[in-house]
Amino acid sequence: MFLGPSNTTGKVDDAFIFIVVSSVILLAAVTICMVVFLAKYNRKKHPRPEQVKESILLEVIWTVIPTILVMFMFYFGWVDFEYIRNPPEDAMTVHVTARQWSWLFEYDNRKESDVLNVPMGRPVKLLMTSADVVHCLFIPAYRIKEDCVPGMTTHLWFTANESGTYDIFCTEYCGVGHSHMRSKVVVMRPEDFAAWRRSPPGNTVADPGPKLLQSKGCLGCHSLDGTPKVGPTFKDLLGRKETVIIAGGEKNITVDGAFIREHILQPRSATVKGFPPVMPTIPMTEEELTAIVAYLETVK
Ligand code: CUA
Repeated sequence: MFLGPSNTTGKVDDAFIFIVVSSVILLAAVTICMVVFLAKYNRKKHPRPEQVKESILLEVIWTVIPTILVMFMFYFGWVDFEYIRNPPEDAMTVHVTARQWSWLFEYDNRKESDVLNVPMGRPVKLLMTSADVVHCLFIPAYRIKEDCVPGMTTHLWFTANESGTYDIFCTEYCGVGHSHMRSKVVVMRPEDFAAWRRSPPGNTVADPGPKLLQSKGCLGCHSLDGTPKVGPTFKDLLGRKETVIIAGGEKNITVDGAFIREHILQPRSATVKGFPPVMPTIPMTEEELTAIVAYLETVK
């Protein structure tokens, strides 16, 4: 069996390769027969058509062989599907919240992250939901994906075999920021993961700002380096002159701490001109708001 970066990779690839290889062999056999018959039974060699009699043997062969093949395909598909849908009892649970347009991963000790950190060699179970619309978590290297649906909990599981970083994509169109809704699986050695898990959560370190922007999902739509994304960049935000759309009319403002606070609490009250009015409402405490505004003042 092909061993990939996770236990699920080989399972899916085995079934896939089996189906592709048997299809290619069948295609080649049918094509060769067609060409041979064209050469052998063309009009020049056979000016008068012959009556073809039935052949029980042929009928049996071309019924039995494809039946066996599709039963094999069904068997592989079923066994691997069973395996991939049923996480083992001892799997480590990570809660996943998808939202427009970022991912939040929460661990059993309330640690939060915007990337999926996992230890190598241990089964990980993702319990997933959505805060707004339907999203879909896809890890291409592991060949697994599942929808994240508001009001429902769906699941995925895998065991990472190799350390490294693997892409996570959202594969359900979920609005203007859909293509930005990316993250990573970061597979660590078990001792590194244990150390990361024990390290204090973001909001107890000296400057919680950057951590908050990540875990609240702000960076899904706003860059720190000037790149325009779904929303305006955070670079040089404080003191910037912007035209905003308020209640259908335009207004020129200078961005200050009060505007940022109000805009986070009531995103649709004003929209910066040139950007879609899609900012979601994200729950924030007073301390978190203060920390974010304080940090944004330093982003130059
Ligand atoms: Cu979330 Cu597409």
